[in-house]
Amino acid sequence: MADLRELYQEVIFDHNRNPRNFRKMEDAHRHAEGYNPMCGDKVTVYLKLEGEVIGDVSFQGSGCAISTASASLMTEALKGKTLEEAQRLFQAFHAMVTDSDEGGHADLGKLEVLAGVREFPARVKCATLAWHTLHAALSDQKTPVSTE
Ligand code: FES
Repeated sequence: MADLRELYQEVIFDHNRNPRNFRKMEDAHRHAEGYNPMCGDKVTVYLKLEGEVIGDVSFQGSGCAISTASASLMTEALKGKTLEEAQRLFQAFHAMVTDSDEGGHADLGKLEVLAGVREFPARVKCATLAWHTLHAALSDQKTPVSTE
């Protein structure tokens, strides 16, 4: 169990040090801004669509290691997903980190490295910041969203 925790931490460190898809997307079809009022950290999520499919996704912003790693892992998980699959992934991820049954216990693959945050309520907002922002982008919401 300790080995698994170390492995999970290593994945989080790696995605924080070297975030994937960390860039502004000039030709995004949708984008949204989110912020965490607890700390003031902000993130912007960009989506490029090919019909109903997410062809490309990126993010920018400043945040703690958990929020950056979560955003980075999220962008990796989203490429090639349909908009509906992305909504389901948002619900499943949210259910995992809040330990609720809503959305069922889907297999979240690599995203499960973030499951441990459910033991730290303040960190749940860090882990979900990019995801709430994704949700706003999927719904084409123009006003910034908060994790509250
Ligand atoms: Fe700000 Fe984690 S401390 S998002």
